[in-house]
Amino acid sequence: MPVIKSVKGFKDILPDETGRWQFVENTARRIFSHFGIREIKIPILEKTDLFRRGIGESTDIVEKEMYTFDDRGGESLTLRPEATASIVRAYLEHNMNAADTVTKLFTIGPMFRRERPQKGRFRQFHQIDVEYIGEKDARVDAELIFMLMHFLSTLGIQSLNLELNSLGCSLCRPGFRDEIKSFFMGKKTCLCSDCTRRMETNPLRIFDCKNEACREVISSAPVIIDFLCDDCRSHFDRVRRFLSLLNVDFTINPFMVRGLDYYTNTAFEITTGAETSQNAVTGGGRYDDLSQILGGPAIPGIGFAIGVERLISLLPESLETDREHPILFIAALGDEAQQRAFEFSNALRLRGIPTEMDLSNRSLKSQMKRSDKVNAEYTLIMGNAELETNTAPLRNMESKEQTEIDISTNDAFIASTLRKLRARGDKS
Ligand code: HAM
Repeated sequence: MPVIKSVKGFKDILPDETGRWQFVENTARRIFSHFGIREIKIPILEKTDLFRRGIGESTDIVEKEMYTFDDRGGESLTLRPEATASIVRAYLEHNMNAADTVTKLFTIGPMFRRERPQKGRFRQFHQIDVEYIGEKDARVDAELIFMLMHFLSTLGIQSLNLELNSLGCSLCRPGFRDEIKSFFMGKKTCLCSDCTRRMETNPLRIFDCKNEACREVISSAPVIIDFLCDDCRSHFDRVRRFLSLLNVDFTINPFMVRGLDYYTNTAFEITTGAETSQNAVTGGGRYDDLSQILGGPAIPGIGFAIGVERLISLLPESLETDREHPILFIAALGDEAQQRAFEFSNALRLRGIPTEMDLSNRSLKSQMKRSDKVNAEYTLIMGNAELETNTAPLRNMESKEQTEIDISTNDAFIASTLRKLRARGDKS
């Protein structure tokens, strides 16, 4: 029978990789706490309507990429393709707006999109997602982006390109929509079938198309920043001004529209030197209408999500993450010694000393090899002779120095081992 493999596009994160993941997540938690951002944990499964309405019916995500199924009760459910709609849902459901004018939230976890797997693109991937909900001031946009840049550079990620655009609002976007509709209408024969369809349903989405012929047409299309209303223009100017005040460099990319329909005003993506914008490590923007789209009051918001797999692939090669290793390995030979070692090792673990032993009754030589392999700092060697004298040698695996440990009783063993280990701590 063939061994069952994982699902295409879903990958295991193996123990040798998790050190880097922990480094990224711990750094995120530390930096977010400096900016007053609190963690929220949201479900992986939501009602399909949340994403249909939130992300938009005519986006690639909703049209082609969601894992949607009817549960046994006949309700349509979807594995979350992103976190923003869920966080805003949770915010509204729990009346979080009552607590503070701006609620700053983050979540870290898996998202699901049935895209074509390729380098940097998976069907289950992870995001670090941050949302600032409740305040529209341009300083909020600038602070969020500043914090994001600070986070990425703290991780050692170099040559970050921040691209910025404004996507207007429900006042100025309809005019732009009409303009590009007639522009694309005139180039209809050059567009792919998806874009021809989108011309009717949602012409802004044509800007997402990766097809080369469509990209050629898009490069001469009108751009939304030329159509902004006074409020949107002034907001965009202020965001740029506050970013400059905080010494954040950026470029304006008037063709960047982001792939989700909920965006209004500020939109941004960050790429690094080697990448193209399809491979952005992070993207985000303002979504001042999303609360209303989901049935709530008018509450503005802005956020971003970082793709953790892409982020980790950009970490410096030289980054060393600590690999947990035991302080003590107990090599025991014979039934009685093995039984004592079994008691001792578990008693030490309860006292916070990482301890290992071999449970396969192997030869002393192979136990010593295993101690080396797991990179134990010390090895205690215990056989019949040691049981008779009630003392056992504790070997420092690096210096090869040996001291004697009292193994007459469990308590004596613990006291004498802890004394030796503390003495080592004092020296360092
Ligand atoms: P997004 O641009 O769809 O935005 O995704 C954000 C990031 O998730 C991307 O820049 C990329 O690094 C990563 N990502 C997306 N799809 C994949 C995939 N198939 N495989 C690997 N990584 C992927 C959002 O999801 C918005 N919710 C961001 C946001 C938050 N906007 C406002 N608040």
